[in-house]
Amino acid sequence: MNDTFLKACRGEEVPYTPIWIMRQAGRYLPEYRAIRGKADFLTMCKTPELAAEVTLQPIDILNVDAAILFCDILIPCEAMGQGLDFHEGKGPILSPAVRDADTINKLFVPDPEDSMKFVMDAIRLLRKELEGRVPLIGFAGAPFTTATYMIEGGTSKNFLNTKRMIYEAPALYASFMDKITATITEYLKAQISAGAQAVQIFDTWGGIFSPMDFREYVLPYVVRIIDELKSWMNSESNERVPIIYFVGETAGLLEEIRTSGADVYGVDWRINLDDAIKRLGSDVIVQGNLDPLSMFLPQDKIEERVKDVLGRASSARGHIFNLGHGVVPQTPPENVIALVEMVHRLSRK
Ligand code: CP3
Repeated sequence: MNDTFLKACRGEEVPYTPIWIMRQAGRYLPEYRAIRGKADFLTMCKTPELAAEVTLQPIDILNVDAAILFCDILIPCEAMGQGLDFHEGKGPILSPAVRDADTINKLFVPDPEDSMKFVMDAIRLLRKELEGRVPLIGFAGAPFTTATYMIEGGTSKNFLNTKRMIYEAPALYASFMDKITATITEYLKAQISAGAQAVQIFDTWGGIFSPMDFREYVLPYVVRIIDELKSWMNSESNERVPIIYFVGETAGLLEEIRTSGADVYGVDWRINLDDAIKRLGSDVIVQGNLDPLSMFLPQDKIEERVKDVLGRASSARGHIFNLGHGVVPQTPPENVIALVEMVHRLSRK
């Protein structure tokens, strides 16, 4: 089995730098669009055979070193009792938007093997179909990032309603976050039990805060999940799977992120990786951090940037190559295929 990714997550010696790409199964691949043409996005997430099929596409096409389960961070919102829909061109719609105690009281902490069983079924199916070729990454949204969608009712520009709840009704916000945190903790445990070999917590919107507010309103809930997962893995003699914490707009928050207890820190492209490592400490494992839009450069320029990132990453204890955020739908797939080849060739010892 190609366990380069898992070894790098644990800080062990690797023959080359492993790479996977956020949103590696997605609309930039014609093979994905072919399936998506026949089924809507939520149906794909909820049909284990379809979810497994698109999860495997980038393994065959790109030669990446890890598979990430095809699903979405908003699936648990529906399982908690909120309506979820994806509108073509408009993104996700969650209804009713969570703005008061009444709505929060109606939400519940679901049993993941009940209302999200299709996710665990997809994981179980994938572990069989992967036959150990590459490890399978599970994931969830961080409580705060999940909360923004639930409070705003979808995607937002300035997160007005989220910040208003935090500043005007902090106790209400805390009670809501308790529910989401419990949901996500149980959800990640279920994914690990089903066979996920690493998990990534996506905090895409964590960077909208000052460090002070991040410490108070975002980080404690992530810490709660990571602490709970770690002690659960130890006590149940479960396999100790690596936990990756990715925060968008990472640069202002590195010192805070460092205290999360994660095994691997995702870094976006707005900071040089060596600067990030200096602030995180050289004993860390980092993941990142090429600008997703650099995939539109000619390949010789992409190669220069790959060399640059690999060079800057050398001061860390370990490095997993990735983009600084998800690959965008318009990306030429041939450049992503070339990226994976470059990372493997240029990092080989
Ligand atoms: O990385 C992977 O390949 C695994 C699958 C995955 C998806 N979404 C598939 C998806 C993962 C890990 C996510 C995470 C996710 N989803 C995040 C966090 C990471 C990030 O990108 O910031 C967020 C914020 C979401 C919420 C979400 N899902 C939005 C806002 C949208 C609509 C915007 C858009 O890109 O269209 C989605 C839809 C979505 N999730 C698609 C895919 C492949 C596109 C759906 C389609 O095929 O129409």
